[in-house]
This record gives sequence, structure tokens and C-alpha cells, in this order.
Amino acid sequence: MTDVIDGNAVAESVRDDLGGCIDTLAAAGVTPTLATVLMSDDPASETYVSMKQQDCEEVGIEARDIELDPDAPADRLFETIDDLNADPDVNGILVQMPVPDHVDDRRVLRRIDPMKDVDGFHPENVGRLVAGNARYKPCTPHGVQKVLAAADVETEGADAVVVGRSDIVGKPMANLLFQKAEGGNATVTVCHSRTADLAAKTGAADIVVAAAGVPEMIDGSMLSEGVTVIDVGINRVEADTEKGYELVGDVDFESAKAKAGAITPVPGGVGPMTRAMLLYNTVKAAGLQADVDVSLP
Ligand code: GUN
Repeated sequence: MTDVIDGNAVAESVRDDLGGCIDTLAAAGVTPTLATVLMSDDPASETYVSMKQQDCEEVGIEARDIELDPDAPADRLFETIDDLNADPDVNGILVQMPVPDHVDDRRVLRRIDPMKDVDGFHPENVGRLVAGNARYKPCTPHGVQKVLAAADVETEGADAVVVGRSDIVGKPMANLLFQKAEGGNATVTVCHSRTADLAAKTGAADIVVAAAGVPEMIDGSMLSEGVTVIDVGINRVEADTEKGYELVGDVDFESAKAKAGAITPVPGGVGPMTRAMLLYNTVKAAGLQADVDVSLP
């Protein structure tokens, strides 16, 4: 029987564990606060940000919602970030990506105070992660690590294939999987659009993390029996539904499930974990900034 991993349940247990940490902060007079900044009218980005806001409110994190006109000058965004950096009540800052083309996204990431960078995208935090001394692990790869642990999937000594080399998922995921640390110690291959024989790589893997952003690109014929499949993809594809689209992953679920020992579905797999780990990082940020030991799980 294939284990279809319930990301909602794992996320719920992460949120439950955070409850005690939030109580500890409250006893010290601190309400963790996350500011989200949206400079986009992309419907998917709008949905993600509103879900993040809702998550915060549910666990007792204060959410500040800042929306900027996508046509505003880049300086408007930089000034907003400067104000949030300077605000002692704001613990975490998340600028939803992508930003409009006229805004240099690398400058955006560098502008955020690394102590408030709950995405873990600032070069200082990227460097710390690569050095094996992470402050804020990026939410999606961190969530994948938690899912693997919850499903009792051993990473140590495993052959892991990460499909995708993005700054947000692929690169940090590969790093976390090979770190000499819990949830790491895997032998990692990173595949991408120029990989010569993708099926040969995925077919030899014990763990496949699909994060290429290409709908259903990995199917059962590319996988070995008993493999663990983690599907990070969230792709909107046209469909005859009320909304006119449906969400599919980077994995063809049915054929992959027939081969897999364990697999995450889309939706309901990695997505809820990404959101939960943002709460985790915000609580961590509040603890670090207030010098309160919140004893994170
Ligand atoms: N856009 C897609 N994923 C993410 C994320 O994890 N953080 C931010 N800030 N933007 C995103």
C-alpha cells in the first residue's frame, strides 16, 4: 500500500507545536508579527498572501497586510521595506515573489533586514544555510524535511534527486538534504531543464523531490518501486471546472502512486507545509528579536 502523505495533518501538528511557543512569547509581552507585502495583481499571488494572513490569525500571529500598486516605482517598495525594518513591532517581512519586472528582485531580497527575513532568501541567510548554520530555513524545503520525517522516510544514505534548481526550492532543498544534520546526509543529484536523461536519474532515486514548475512532468515510468515522491509543484492548468482551472503538481499522481512507497498529493501535500513553516520562522524571528527562548520543535 502506498502511503499518501497528508500534508494538512503534518502542518496541523507543526501549528499545534507552535502554540506553546506563542504562549511563551505572550508571557514575555511579545505578539509575533508578520508583515506581508504584495506588489502584484496576479490572482495566484493574491491567494497565497491571503492564505498566509489567515494562517497567522488562526495561530495568534499578528498579520500586517501591505499592498502596493504593481505600477508604482520600485522605490515605493524599498521605502516600505525600510519602514518595516525599522519597526520594532514587526518580526518578519515577506515580500511575495515575483515582483513586477521593473523591480530588481535581488535588490528586494538584500533590502530586508536578515533578522526579519522569514523567507530565508537574503544572501546572509542563504550563506548561513549553505554553511550548515541556518537561521531561517526557506519554508518549502524546510516543510519537505518535516514531511519526510513525519512519514518516517530515512534521508541518511538515501539517493535523493531534486528536480529543479530555483533559489526558492531546488537549491536550498539540495543543501538541506546533503547537510551533515538530521534530515540530511543524503546523496543528492540536482536535475534541471538541461539534464540529459532525467528518467535515468529519477529512476535510480530513493527520494524524488519534484520542483520544476512543469505540470505532471514526472510519471510512474520514470520511478523505481518503493520510491518516496515529494511533489512541490502547484500548477494551474485549464480545466472544465467552475474556476476554469485545476491545480496539478509536477508529478502525474496516479501513475507515480502505483510505483511509490510514499507520495504527497497536490493539493494537500507540500503546500500546507510551506505555510506552516512560515509561521514557524515568524515565531523563531520573534524569539530571536526579543531574546526569548521559545524552544521550537
Ligand atoms: N512566491 C512563491 N513562493 C514564495 C515564497 O515562498 N516566498 C515568497 N516571498 N514569495 C513566493
